[in-house]
Amino acid sequence: MNHEANTSVFSNQSSVHDDLNTLVEKHTRSVWQEPIPPHTRDAAKTIIKLLETHKGPLILDSFCGTGMSTAKLGSLYPEALVIGIDKSANRLGRHVQTMTNNYRLIRGNCEHIWAQLVSAGIRCTHHYLFYPNPWPKKAHIKRRVHGHPSFPLLKQLGGSIELRSNWKIYVDEFAAASQLIGLDAKVESLSATDPMTLFERKYAANSENLWVCRAVAS
Ligand SMILES: C[S@@+](CC[C@H](N)C(=O)[O-])C[C@H]1O[C@@H](n2cnc3c(N)ncnc32)[C@H](O)[C@@H]1O
Repeated sequence: MNHEANTSVFSNQSSVHDDLNTLVEKHTRSVWQEPIPPHTRDAAKTIIKLLETHKGPLILDSFCGTGMSTAKLGSLYPEALVIGIDKSANRLGRHVQTMTNNYRLIRGNCEHIWAQLVSAGIRCTHHYLFYPNPWPKKAHIKRRVHGHPSFPLLKQLGGSIELRSNWKIYVDEFAAASQLIGLDAKVESLSATDPMTLFERKYAANSENLWVCRAVAS
């Protein structure tokens, strides 16, 4: 097992996965068609309805956990509707409400919600993906955002994409995969002086190295 310096992520991978190119190219050639459960259809309908009344830009905060970042993004972008998405009712239930009122937390599977929004022709101006589960075992690449068949949907959703992780290989893979689907992407180290999320706060307190990939989809 390899343990990168200053990260709590243990992996049997020491560089970008050998299968990344083949996997992303395969996913680019096909349309992801997984049955969407009724509760996720309802979640997407809720977002579409909110957008109809909001009429401003849409910002997505996928894998939002307790929604700390969603509320922060709401105050950073007062003109936008910021939607935090997470599948865990438990995490969402631990959200600490703020005075900002231009954000909503929605329970659902991100990949299914992205598919529904794309089908409805919706695009966002910014898409944040803060610390998605790293799935560090080599065999689990298909569970990572960029190894999943839904990955090309990120391009269709548009906007400036920002993915953060404490595992550099994850961020390097995300950037390489983004380039494979035609996005401009670059990786930088991140200094979290004012943490956006609970995980970021924990990593910063442990002096872990943090990384960000910024990609442009429109
Ligand atoms: C490591 S936590 C990060 C949470 C938050 N972004 C933070 O930085 O504090 C990853 C989150 O992704 C959520 N998650 C994992 N897979 C998901 C999926 N397919 N759709 C929606 N949420 C998912 C988990 O419930 C968890 O809250």
